[in-house]
Amino acid sequence: MTFEQYFSVAPSATVATPGRVNLIGEHTDYNDGFVLPTVIPQTTVIQIAARKDQTVRVVSSNMQPAAVHTYTLGAEKKSGDWLVYIQGVTHILRTSGITIGGFDALISSTVPTGAGLSSSAALTVGLIKALREVFPFDLTDPAIARLAQRVENEFVGAHVGIMDQMAVCLAKPRQALFLDTRSLHYELVALPEQAGLIVINSGVSHSNIGGGYSARRRSCEEAATQLKVKALRDLGLADLGRLKPLGALLEKRARHVISENARVESAVLALKAGDLARLGQLFKESHASMRDDYEVSTPEIDQLVTIANLDPAVYGARLTGGGFGGSIVALAHLAEAPAAAKRIAQRYLEQVGKEPTILVP
Ligand code: GLA
Repeated sequence: MTFEQYFSVAPSATVATPGRVNLIGEHTDYNDGFVLPTVIPQTTVIQIAARKDQTVRVVSSNMQPAAVHTYTLGAEKKSGDWLVYIQGVTHILRTSGITIGGFDALISSTVPTGAGLSSSAALTVGLIKALREVFPFDLTDPAIARLAQRVENEFVGAHVGIMDQMAVCLAKPRQALFLDTRSLHYELVALPEQAGLIVINSGVSHSNIGGGYSARRRSCEEAATQLKVKALRDLGLADLGRLKPLGALLEKRARHVISENARVESAVLALKAGDLARLGQLFKESHASMRDDYEVSTPEIDQLVTIANLDPAVYGARLTGGGFGGSIVALAHLAEAPAAAKRIAQRYLEQVGKEPTILVP
């Protein structure tokens, strides 16, 4: 059904926001560190029209049945479904002193949920941008990213960092966003011409709201406190020898973050030099660190990464996103990426028995 069929008016703005895949720099953002995400072709499209009252009517064509949900501004509730993101956006905007009125919105998305590809950031950032179109307010894209992060932190209860929101706001196709999550300084770094990305969803569902993500975050804060630094970002490879007194668990967690930050900086150099072999090697090291030190992988994801790494066209592969399920990203030669993705997905299906989805290319 169309917007007009749902709401009997025409939309006055349409905003498309992409999902993201993180190339490298995982679980570094809430440690004030570096990240290197880029966008995927899948988008969340929001059509919107302002209303003259305080009523919000919203429908997602991804839901079966696609029902219109209604609530009043100021009476937002923390529902356990996707509406929490909508109600979170209007709550955070209003309580931040940004004036909005009621609206009708139709959402349709090709960004898969639970795949570690930032479907929630595409939705929250997209909705704030759509509202900016119809209730003109003055917010820069980085300011929108911050508000969208607050929706997750303060309303949804997911204690995520700023990477996803900044990525979907600022990254561009075939350009990676090298972001310093402390200063929010960023640089767009072009992917080398021959670089082909492969993104495959393992079919194991991922969530940032569960205990694993928050527990990792707390471990990092504890390690930083014990090491007397503001954040683990303030330590480098030369400090790895100082981690022993933290005890085995915190030592592993801190080692991942510190080494991962260094890998992001190396990856940027490799990108700029067009050195795909080096970049692939960094992907492999990042995955090993997430698997062994940070312990956010799963047996299925490990298997998928192993299968990808064995493919002759692949330079390196790793788990992408928060972990505990979700997707992998692999680097291949551009011309060979489509065939390689098919081979990897087929082998995963045969060996693991789960249905993978190729999202890129
Ligand atoms: C999720 C969070 C991000 C980031 C990643 C891990 O995607 O939303 O803020 O912490 O996990 O790198």
